[in-house]
Amino acid sequence: MTSKFPNICSCLFLVLFYLISLANGQFYSDEHPLSTSEIRVEKMTHLHFFFHDIVSGKHPSAVQIATPKTLSKNGFGVTNMADDRLTVEANTRSEVIGRAQGMYGLASQNEIALLMVMNYVFTKGKYNGSSIAIVGRNPPLQDVREMPIVGGTGLFRFARGYALAHTVWSNPEHDAIVEYHVYVYHF
Ligand SMILES: *[C@@H]1O[C@H](CO)[C@@H](O)[C@H](O)[C@H]1NC(C)=O
Repeated sequence: MTSKFPNICSCLFLVLFYLISLANGQFYSDEHPLSTSEIRVEKMTHLHFFFHDIVSGKHPSAVQIATPKTLSKNGFGVTNMADDRLTVEANTRSEVIGRAQGMYGLASQNEIALLMVMNYVFTKGKYNGSSIAIVGRNPPLQDVREMPIVGGTGLFRFARGYALAHTVWSNPEHDAIVEYHVYVYHF
């Protein structure tokens, strides 16, 4: 009887210690400086920038990386890898504030519609180093295309929202400047 008592006692102590540790969030600690235990409020941010997709000339920012064996009318299967500049204004000399890096490919057999899989990483000011991920459908001939924001990093952790894309300039070689309005919820 007496020999069992300390065992029960230490068991209870361990359980108590475990519960206290849980309550303190000790088992969920994260070393990253951005994730402190402070309670952060979700906010909505509106981003406005221009996306420069240059496929022609000596210094393209997007290159074709996949070509289908048989090329159909709508280019189904043609895929590009891009590292496109994001700027403040629509002109080519405007300040670069980030880059759109990723892939887009023609994903529809019946019309011209792209699947976009891209990270938009910002390189200036408050959002320097933060990024948002876009995975969505982009039929480029439509006036305004909507694409989902599926996540983010840095100040855009837990991001979700949508992007509205509108082409402001294009040429016969399919270079394009696209205006983006992004509405993103994040912490
Ligand atoms: C952005 O962040 C990088 C890495 O921390 C730093 O080297 C660079 O100077 C920053 N740029 C601006 C414009 O703040």
